[in-house]
Parts: sequence; C-alpha cells; structure tokens
Amino acid sequence: MNFKEIIQEIYQQINNIDDKGQLASYIPELANIDSEKFGIHISTIDQVNFGLGNCYDKFSIQSIAKVLSLSLAYSILGEKIWERLGVEPSGTAFNSLVQLEADNGIPRNPFINAGAIVVSDILLSNLENPKEDFLAFVRSISNNSELNYSNKIASSEKSAGFRNTALCNFIKSFGNIQNKPSDVLDFYFDLCSLEMNCKELSELFLFLANNGCKINDNNLILTKSQSKRINALMQTCGFYDESGEFAFKVGLPGKSGVGGGIIAIHPNQYVIAVWSPKLNTKGNSYKGMRFLEEFTTESQLSIF
Ligand code: DON
Repeated sequence: MNFKEIIQEIYQQINNIDDKGQLASYIPELANIDSEKFGIHISTIDQVNFGLGNCYDKFSIQSIAKVLSLSLAYSILGEKIWERLGVEPSGTAFNSLVQLEADNGIPRNPFINAGAIVVSDILLSNLENPKEDFLAFVRSISNNSELNYSNKIASSEKSAGFRNTALCNFIKSFGNIQNKPSDVLDFYFDLCSLEMNCKELSELFLFLANNGCKINDNNLILTKSQSKRINALMQTCGFYDESGEFAFKVGLPGKSGVGGGIIAIHPNQYVIAVWSPKLNTKGNSYKGMRFLEEFTTESQLSIF
C-alpha cells in the first residue's frame, strides 16, 4: 500500500475545502499566525519519513505537550500518579471548571487543563530545574537540541490566563496542588509554548508507537504498560468533548493543541502529525481532523 500517494491526494483535497475554523484568539499571540498554513508529516517504526506542505514550519504545540509532561511525571511517580488524577473522559471543554467541585479537586484526566496543571505541579516537586529539565527530557527523546520554548507565546498566554489561574487556585483549595500557584502556572505556560514542526513532532512521538522505547537507541522512556495507558488516554481523552468523534471518525489515539497541531499514533506502525491553525468549535484543528479522517479511511490504517 502506497501511503505517500494517499497522503498527497488527500492533502490536495483538504487544502481546497472551505475551512470553517477560527484561530485561537484567546491567546493573543496565536491570533497572529498565518491561518493558511497546512503541513503533514508521517514517521513509521521502520524509519520511513514523508512530509508535505508546511511540514518544516515550527508552530506552538500547546496541549500536545501535555502528553510529554505526563510521560515524564508517570515515569517518575509510577502508578501513584493516579492518586491525584483520574482516567475518565470529561465530556467537557478543555478549560472547564465545572466538574472539579464535585470531584474534590481531582481532575478527570491528565489532558484537560486542570489535569495538566496537576501534572505540572508534580514535575515542579520532582525536578531540580523544572523548565530546563523538562526541555532536556524532550530534547533527549527527539535527539534534537534545537527544540525550545517560545517566550513570546508563554508570556502572551500568561497575560490572558485568567481561567487557568482560576483552575490552579481552585485545585489548590482542595490540596491537590503542592507548590505556589504562580510557579505552577509559569511552568504550565512554558511547556504549552514548546515549538516544533510536523516532522519533529512525528519523529518525537514514535516512542509511543514503539511500546515506550526510543527508536534509534532502544532507550526505555516508559514501560510497555505505561505506553499502553498513555495511548489509551489519548484515545479516550485526547480531544476533550470531541474524543468520541475522533475515535469514531479517525480511529487512532491522538492529541490536539490550540496551535492547530494534531498528532495521531498507530501503535507498532506510525505517527502522523498535522498542522492547520484554524480550530473547530471544540478547539481542534478543522482541517487536521478532516485530513486524518480521510487518511485512515483511505489507507485503512486505523487501530479498529
Ligand atoms: O491552557 C491553555 O488553554 C493552552 N495552553 C492549551 C490548550 C490547548 O491546547 C487545548 N487543546 N486543544
């Protein structure tokens, strides 16, 4: 099966559709992005790489970074991490506050903002230099010392981060945040500001298609069981209140970000990264979702 041909064909098709999405203007700096950008890159376990369009332009990966922060926190705490986080889909928006009161400050899952803020708190408690150590972790998985945060995006998000501030303070009131909320939020905004292109993203996430193991040197990032569980969480919670729709239409574990990026993983086969900045009403890339739906339909390379 020639997936390069399929990707080329679908890329042309989706490039021409009417994009009904909107840029994520609640982070002021994200409203300045060229909304016409569209990139795709696939990396397979057996080291085939193929990309199209703006696949070498860096963008803000936003919530996709939550998979990386969870991976590091899970590798440090092991199963104890689930004392502070749930593993259920929330069925609510990524930045929702509503369930926290009833759930006593335990976020439903690590990918909603509430959960990712608790993961940031865990890393703050366990890393000597959280900002530097987290970046070193990401660089070491990807063998790419060029990867970096964007100070511009981080401070833009901080200047308008009232909802995340509310979430962090609210969780702290239940005792599920141990550090100073302003420190936790600074770190959370930094990790969301990581910048990468589609090629870097698809290569970086190969460890989750490879049972937690780095492709090049077989270094274990996560155990096989941890890798399975993170894929399961991406499948059930990676797209917030559109997770069911993504499973239904695309049929792969994945994670979106409000910068317009999506990664999708086929365990034991490949990782595909898509970037198109305009978002649907659920906060997920409009064209990205459409592309992946067509890709797994045409190629029949979904996990189901
Ligand atoms: O906290 C926020 O709102 C952003 N830094 C991340 C949100 C995000 O990417 C949600 N994803 N679709």
